[in-house]
Amino acid sequence: MTQRYYLTTPIYYVNDDPHIGHAYTTLACDVLARFKRLDGFDVKFLTGTDEHGQKVAKSAADAGVDPKAFTDRVSQNFRDLADALNFSHDDFIRTTEDRHKTASQAIWKAIAAGKSPKGNDNIYLASYPGWYAVRDEAFYSEDELTTGADGKKIAPSGAEVEWVEEPSYFFRLSDWQDKLLEFYDANPDFILPKTRRNEVTSFVSGGLQDLSVSRTTFKWGVPVPGDDDHIMYVWLDALTNYITGVGYPETETGEYATYWPADLHMVGKDILRFHAVYWPAFLMAAGLEPPKRVFAHGWWTNEGEKISKSLGNVIDPYDLVEKYGLDQVRYYLLREVPFGNDGDFSHTSMVNRMNGELANDLGNLAQRVLSMVAKNCDGAVPEPGDFTSEDRELIDWAPSLLKGLRAHMDGQMFHLYLEAVWQAIRAANGYVDTQAPWKLAKEDTARMGTVLYVLAETIRQIAIVLQPFMPDSMGRMLDQLAVGPDHRSFFYLDGDKLVSGSALPKPEGVFPRYQEEEGKGDG
Ligand code: MSP
Repeated sequence: MTQRYYLTTPIYYVNDDPHIGHAYTTLACDVLARFKRLDGFDVKFLTGTDEHGQKVAKSAADAGVDPKAFTDRVSQNFRDLADALNFSHDDFIRTTEDRHKTASQAIWKAIAAGKSPKGNDNIYLASYPGWYAVRDEAFYSEDELTTGADGKKIAPSGAEVEWVEEPSYFFRLSDWQDKLLEFYDANPDFILPKTRRNEVTSFVSGGLQDLSVSRTTFKWGVPVPGDDDHIMYVWLDALTNYITGVGYPETETGEYATYWPADLHMVGKDILRFHAVYWPAFLMAAGLEPPKRVFAHGWWTNEGEKISKSLGNVIDPYDLVEKYGLDQVRYYLLREVPFGNDGDFSHTSMVNRMNGELANDLGNLAQRVLSMVAKNCDGAVPEPGDFTSEDRELIDWAPSLLKGLRAHMDGQMFHLYLEAVWQAIRAANGYVDTQAPWKLAKEDTARMGTVLYVLAETIRQIAIVLQPFMPDSMGRMLDQLAVGPDHRSFFYLDGDKLVSGSALPKPEGVFPRYQEEEGKGDG
C-alpha cells in the first residue's frame, strides 16, 4: 500500500514582504516533500497565507484599501516567492477562502459542543482585560512583559503591546494541561528538536491559563458561529488551515481520511507555542487527532545582526537567488546550519560553500569525468570490465546509504544528509586521483573504461539523491548522463545502472564559481 505523507508550512502573514525566514521554512518542507515523492510516498504539501486579524486589517487601512482587495493583491507575493524558489507545494491556502471559513466555524462548533476533561464547557463567554501584541497577534500576561526606554510595555518577542478590554469567548485551556502532558509523554518525538520539547513541557507543567479566542473591536475575521458580534481569534482561524487543507469538516472520506493526522508541521521557533500547545488542545477538544510532529527551526541573522525592517538588513530571497543562483541558495540554507539551530547568513560563508562544495567538489567531479568520457569514449557510457574492491565501494554506495539518508530526512536533519552525500563525493574525487584515468587513457584503455564507468555511475547516484535539494541542477546533471525523467526516483538507485553504449550529450558545467571581482558567476 502506498504510504502517505502530509506536511505543512506556517501560513504567512499576508501583509509581510517575503523574506528569508519565509523562504527557509518552506524550503525545508519542499526538500522533504520532494524526498518523500522520490521515495514512493503519496505526498501532500500545503502552504499559504494568513489573511485575517488586526495586523492585516491595519496594513490594509494604512494602504487605504478594503482588506479583501488588499489581501487579494498581496497574497500573490507568496505565490511568486514559491515559484521563484521552485517550491513544489500541492495546495496553496488563503484563509479568506470559503472552504476555510467553513472549516473554522466547524471546528469552533465542535470545540464548543464538547466538555473539557474536567467536565466544563470548552468555550465560555466572559471579558478580556489585558495586554495584546498586534505584531504577534498574541495575548500576554503582565509578568511576561518588560518596559522599554520610552516607558512602553514590550512582549518577550520585542513587540509592543496594547491594553485591550472587550467581551470575549474563552477556550478552557487550563483544563487541558494534563491531557497535553500525557500526549507529550506518549509521543516523545511530537516536538523536535528535543531542547524545544523541554521548553514546551516545562511551560505546560507550569500551568495554563484560559485563552481568549474571540475579538469584538474589529471585524476582519471569521464570525463566531451564532454570535456575529465576535470574530474568531486569528490564531484559532489560522491553525485550522491545516485541516481545511484536507477537506475538514468532511472527516470520513476524502483527503482528511487519507492524510490526517499530518506527519509534520514545520514552523519557526517563535510560533512553537501556538502549534505545540494551543493547536493540539483545540484538536483534542474538537475530538480530532493532533498532528504527529511539530519541528521548530531556528532563526537567521544577517552578518551577525538580528534581521529587522528597522535595521534595514532584511534578506530578500530574490536578491540572493539573483546573486548566487537558485540551487546554490537552496543548498546553502540547509547545509550551513544544523537544522533546528539559529544561523548566520554571511556572504563569505555563502561563497565558500558555493565555490568549495558545489563548484569544486561536485561540479568539477562531474565536469572532469564527463569530459573524459566525451573525449576518450566517443561520447558514450563506457563498457566496464571486472570491478575491483575499490570500484565496488563507490558503485555500491547509494543503495546501502539510502537507509541512512532516510533516517536523516525523517529526523529533519538536512545538514547530516548533505554531509553523508558529500562523503561519497569526496570519496569519488579521491578515486579519480588514485586511479588517474587520464594516465589510463594512454596505458590501459580497458581499465580506463571501467574507472570512468564507475565514476559516471556514482555521479548518477549522487545526482539522484541530491534532487530534493537542487532539483534543477541535478536534473541537468542527469540529462548529461542520459538518465530519462522517469528513471530518477530512488527506486532506480539500485534498480538501474548506466547502460554502456548510451550516447551522452556534450558535457556542460552545472555549478559556476562565484567570482568576487566581477560579483557574478562565470558560467
Ligand atoms: N501567520 C503566522 C503563522 C500561522 S501558522 C498557522 C506567522 N506568519 S509569519 O509570516 O510571521 O511567519 C513567519 C515564518 O517565518 C515563521 O515560521 C518564522 O519562524 C519564520 N521566520 C521569520 N523570520 C525568520 C528569520 N529571521 N529566520 C528564520 N525564520 C524566521 O507567524
